[in-house]
Amino acid sequence: MASRAVIRLHPLFSIPYLLLLLPACATARRDEPLAGPMPLSDPKLVAGQQVFMRNCHQCHPGGAAGLGPAINNKPLPAFAIKAQVRKGVGAMPAFDDGRIPDADLDNLTAYLQTLRKQDGD
Ligand code: HEC
Repeated sequence: MASRAVIRLHPLFSIPYLLLLLPACATARRDEPLAGPMPLSDPKLVAGQQVFMRNCHQCHPGGAAGLGPAINNKPLPAFAIKAQVRKGVGAMPAFDDGRIPDADLDNLTAYLQTLRKQDGD
């Protein structure tokens, strides 16, 4: 009796399991990880990643410490990231809106905040 119950329940468990598994696989394959294995499905984040690779990656490789400190391991609010980029601090140059337009800065900020979440703090 117990084994019949298990057989009848089996398809109910496997369908949600497959539904969970499929999108996870698809996302991982579709995107090019440039800064580690981070699947980016949002075009805003992909754009932000491109801004990051052009302007920030050389000093904060993949968001980690390089010439500059790690920026993927601390809860920096959006306004603080934006102020840092616009004004520059210490050895970090300032980026005006000629180099990084406001829309790009928004995408970059969203990307950095996602990078931080992926890092698991
Ligand atoms: C020429 C190297 C260089 C580049 C390019 C650069 N940074 Fe920095 N960054 C630094 C250095 C050095 C610091 C530390 C500044 C200090 O506090 O003296 C820093 C600090 C920061 C901080 C603050 C970290 C903290 O601990 O509070 C953030 C956020 C940041 N950078 C983001 C960016 C972003 C976003 C870009 C791209 C638009 C960028 N950086 C480009 C060198 C760089």
